[in-house]
Amino acid sequence: MKHEFIEKNVGLLALLIIIAISFGGLAEITPLLFQKETTEPVHGLKPYTALEMEGRDIYIREGCHVCHSQMIRPFRAETERYGHYSLAGEQVWEHPFLWGSKRTGPDLARVGKRYSDVWHKMHLINPRDVVPQSNMPAYPWLLKNKLTGEDIARKLEIFRYNFHVPYTDADIAGAKAAVKGKTEMTALIAYLQSLGQALSTKE
Ligand code: HEC
Repeated sequence: MKHEFIEKNVGLLALLIIIAISFGGLAEITPLLFQKETTEPVHGLKPYTALEMEGRDIYIREGCHVCHSQMIRPFRAETERYGHYSLAGEQVWEHPFLWGSKRTGPDLARVGKRYSDVWHKMHLINPRDVVPQSNMPAYPWLLKNKLTGEDIARKLEIFRYNFHVPYTDADIAGAKAAVKGKTEMTALIAYLQSLGQALSTKE
């Protein structure tokens, strides 16, 4: 009788369905908010330097994340090619996440230190000079555009106050001087070289 009553009242049925489904969602999501593994940085994680942070913004502006993921999945085919699978603790200071959802090019989560700075520079000016069959676009203007450093101190402040990234007052005070006059190419390469370094640093 009760069952029939619920089935014949669409509003009530919808409400009860929503309640039932949200239990499933809560059971999956709530623990993630409290588990240390997902909320605390891995040992050795370093905040981006001012230059790397500028490079990261250029990476976003140029849409690199549209073709490149930064998320190594825990499968043998991936770990043999790219290294240790990505950990949540490596990503706690990432805002926004650049995991990506498409791999036209290789995953870049651990590309740092895999190539020299010169290789990256040649590759970004014209990918076909170093990988003849590449269909990655060229980014020659990165060599000409210079950073002014106008917003960088503010960016670091936002990461410190809103996302609890441990920047010191000295980091923030010195940010502008650290980037001003450098090319966008230098900043982007510094960012690429920093990717995935936390797990390899033993202190
Ligand atoms: C249209 C898709 C596309 C875009 C956009 C793109 N790439 Fe690529 N990228 C590729 C492809 C395909 C490869 C593999 C061939 C090669 O090495 O050039 C690649 C390779 C790379 C590699 C070498 C990775 C490795 O492990 O060998 C790096 C580093 C890289 N891209 C960085 C970037 C950066 C930085 C940007 C943004 C400025 C960018 N890519 C934008 C498609 C893309």
